[in-house]
Amino acid sequence: MNPKVVLKSEDIPKQWYNLAVDLPSPLQPPLGPDGNPVTPEMLAAIFPMSLIEQEMSPHRWIDIPEEILDILLKWRPSPLHRALSLEKALGTPARIYYKNESVSPPGSHKPNTAVAQAYYNKAAGTKKITTETGAGQWGSALAFACAQIGLECKVFMVRISFDQKPFRKLMMQSWGADCIASPSTETKAGRDILAQNPDTPGSLGIAISEAVEAAVSDESGETKYSLGSVLNHVMLHQTIIGLEAKKQLKLFGEKLPDVVIGCAGGGSNFAGISFPFTLDKINGAQIDIIPVEPFSCPTLTKGPFVYDLGDFSGMTPLLPMYSLGHTFVPPPIHAGGLRYHGMAPLVSQAVHEGLMEPRAIHQLECFEAAVQFARTEGIIVAPETSHAVAAAIQEANKAKEEGKEKVILFNMSGHGLMDLRGYQSYFAGELGDYEFPKEEIEKNLAAIKDFPKPSTATSGKW
Ligand SMILES: Cc1ncc(COP(=O)(O)O)c(C=O)c1O
Repeated sequence: MNPKVVLKSEDIPKQWYNLAVDLPSPLQPPLGPDGNPVTPEMLAAIFPMSLIEQEMSPHRWIDIPEEILDILLKWRPSPLHRALSLEKALGTPARIYYKNESVSPPGSHKPNTAVAQAYYNKAAGTKKITTETGAGQWGSALAFACAQIGLECKVFMVRISFDQKPFRKLMMQSWGADCIASPSTETKAGRDILAQNPDTPGSLGIAISEAVEAAVSDESGETKYSLGSVLNHVMLHQTIIGLEAKKQLKLFGEKLPDVVIGCAGGGSNFAGISFPFTLDKINGAQIDIIPVEPFSCPTLTKGPFVYDLGDFSGMTPLLPMYSLGHTFVPPPIHAGGLRYHGMAPLVSQAVHEGLMEPRAIHQLECFEAAVQFARTEGIIVAPETSHAVAAAIQEANKAKEEGKEKVILFNMSGHGLMDLRGYQSYFAGELGDYEFPKEEIEKNLAAIKDFPKPSTATSGKW
């Protein structure tokens, strides 16, 4: 049996899908320091207006410019595989499908938005883009996109990943970007944190503060900032994943999946695979939609739904999201890209509405799943992605217990060929499971207790 479906170039989706339009309870606006909704003009200091319009768009479908499609076509449409060997090893009646986003030049889903963001910046006259990166996947994706479009790129990489993944830095350098460890001495935010805690492993929240500061402090106005996850326009650009997967499942002879799974750090690859199917669920389909996170950074499963800052130092607006508190510095687990205190407002609102059922999985179970996947399907996944693999295996085992022929779809968000240190530690028996203590979470949440509160109203349908 054919284990994969590859669409023709002309079948690439020509529009992105905006879930905000269909959410049964409305998405709440980001708030400025005075507690009022931020205006497009306030965001214009760091983003081009075309991206700000997408951030607030009232349109369900948004055309993908041809120039973006031309670059995406270098590796898209990405293949959808049927995990026949994994199914056999598990002895499950479930049919498991995975969307292979590792085929992009940097090795993950991240270029889907990096290319779009670089394109809109270039069109608006931007010369240089700053950003943060956790695992290094986002930094390399933006470095790749800036090289394609013709922009300078500066990346603040979370210290712990910078040390664990030296080859990611070299990838960014190969694409012409400048990558430094965060916190750094180049920004006030970085210097303040280093003064308090010189040995900090860093966090995505800290790196975001530095990258935003570096953009706004360029008085020429030609430097903008780019975020690899969390914001609405990033979720939008990633929906090409699920839109392709929908066409490919049909070619496999399937109607809709019973279960859709993605790992969730800031929420972008999960949004990409799941939002087009969330629309089917809103329209009445029975689909379990599962964002998966590590026990050590349990934003959706342990955090409250609040207004919180997107970064450590307060450079960003307040966002309505599940959060562990913006001062949360998670333990240095290997899945660097999942170490974020917050979650995309669109994913958060959908979870709050009951459309999605988040799940936390321990690190060891994830590596065990990743190794089983490598030995059956052949692909060595990123540690972030291993969370989706582990959840897919859990679901396939559940289908076996129940004797049900379920269709399970998950997003294979990236390969782990630059993350073999994590595998090395796993094989050496050096990794343990870590659950973030409740008291620590409460301590971080105390810092945001006086922030405005989002409405908790839902449609009550799910
Ligand atoms: C391969 C991979 N998957 C998933 C993630 C998590 O990010 P997001 O939740 O935005 O998809 C990352 C982040 O760096 C990543 O590199």
